[in-house]
Amino acid sequence: MNFDLTEEHIAVRDAARDFAKTALLPGVIERDNAQSFPAEQIQEMGALGFMGMMVDPKYNGGGMDTISYVLAMEEISKVDASASVSMSVNNSLVCWGLEKYGTEAQKGKYLKPLASGALIGAFCLSEPEAGSDATSQQTEAIDMGDHYLLNGTKNWITNGNSASIYLVIAQTDREKGHKGINCLIVEKEMEGFVVGKKEDKLGIRGSDTHMLSFTDVKVPKENRIGEDGFGFNFAMNTLNGGRIGIAAQALGIASGAFELARNYSLERKTFNKPIAHHQAISFKLADMATEIEAARLLVLKAAYEKDQKRDFSKWSAMAKLMASEVAMKTTVEAVQIHGGYGFVKEYHVERLMRDAKITQIYEGTSEIQRIVISRKILTELDG
Ligand code: CAA
Ligand code: FAD
Repeated sequence: MNFDLTEEHIAVRDAARDFAKTALLPGVIERDNAQSFPAEQIQEMGALGFMGMMVDPKYNGGGMDTISYVLAMEEISKVDASASVSMSVNNSLVCWGLEKYGTEAQKGKYLKPLASGALIGAFCLSEPEAGSDATSQQTEAIDMGDHYLLNGTKNWITNGNSASIYLVIAQTDREKGHKGINCLIVEKEMEGFVVGKKEDKLGIRGSDTHMLSFTDVKVPKENRIGEDGFGFNFAMNTLNGGRIGIAAQALGIASGAFELARNYSLERKTFNKPIAHHQAISFKLADMATEIEAARLLVLKAAYEKDQKRDFSKWSAMAKLMASEVAMKTTVEAVQIHGGYGFVKEYHVERLMRDAKITQIYEGTSEIQRIVISRKILTELDG
């Protein structure tokens, strides 16, 4: 067993760290306040190869492994989780799904500009009445022969307005249950597609989360991903990888908050000594560091299992569950260590605390991760 990173991994991590400090940190508080999408920064991330990191270079990707991807995700998320959620959705939901299951024509037309970062993608599964219970889709894609007629509403869609390409999951044959669901590639310009209300959120306020509506949108048959009825399996298989991205995001939020708390605790003095030298504070830091390392090992393990092309669904669910719980706990403690300063915006930790919460909710809540893990471990024991 080898726990060392390769030189390439270290170079990718350092490049992401440098970018986060120089391009994302300036203005991150203002973007959070104004709920403004980091459009320029995302464009730059595309130019640096962060938006299609794992895609084969023949489709404009970086040809990197999942370990590189999680290292970069952690660094970007330490500073700006609104930018990193766009990166995660584009890399591990949209590009991965298209590369794995798309036709050559779909890859040429859609994957190439998405992997280079020229365009941004969105993944549209959730609906007002179907979040965790994802098979209860109400959005319909009626088979009209050479095209589908798409009608319905999607909720909470990340990159909702900034995307150009949308992977939309919809019911074609209700009687077939989850085997009657398809995934269609929808372009923003298609008639009948409207980007609706923007959500006003607790955290990741720079990320543009929108409701989307589809009214008699004609989607050509060649825009269906996979065989007829493959859409739900497509979504589940894709989310397994997406959850590694969100686990890495949560890890980054936790480690960003830890670094700020540690540095602050060495500077801030009370009762004639740095607060780090009060045992109550140093023990908090010890617990934070230990839990972050445990989460990091699980995130890297999930990435490693994916790179080995083994079934990694249990690992990605465990990594997301663990890292998101650690992110929430660590950021709350980071605010506590900052005292009153932690409660004001310029010290960053209150934002990280607000951002941490979403990692326990999207791409499957912590309760859903426990369902995925328990089903897997019970089958393994039975088998
Ligand atoms: N990996 C692969 N396949 C899976 C799977 C997984 N983790 N979980 C379920 N499936 C497959 C099953 O094998 C089954 O397929 P077959 O019949 O071909 O074997 C099919 O999915 C249906 O499975 P279930 O009968 O178990 O389905 P269920 O109705 O009991 O629900 C669930 C399963 C795990 C709860 C699922 O609905 C789920 O994951 N819900 C959460 C949805 C979610 O994560 N949404 C995220 C939206 S995207 C997002 O949030 C992006 C963002 O914020 C940035
Ligand atoms: P519900 O499913 O209604 O769950 C409510 C509560 O009940 C939760 O605590 C849940 O864990 C619990 N619960 C539900 N079922 C069970 C059960 N069987 N056992 C135990 N507990 C259960 N979706 C997309 O498709 N694409 C996106 O890009 C996207 N981006 C998002 C961005 C943001 C900022 C947000 C807030 C959401 C986003 N989502 C996206 C949606 C997200 O994936 C869902 O909100 C999430 O899956 C939960 O669904 P829900 O909100 O309907 O909650």
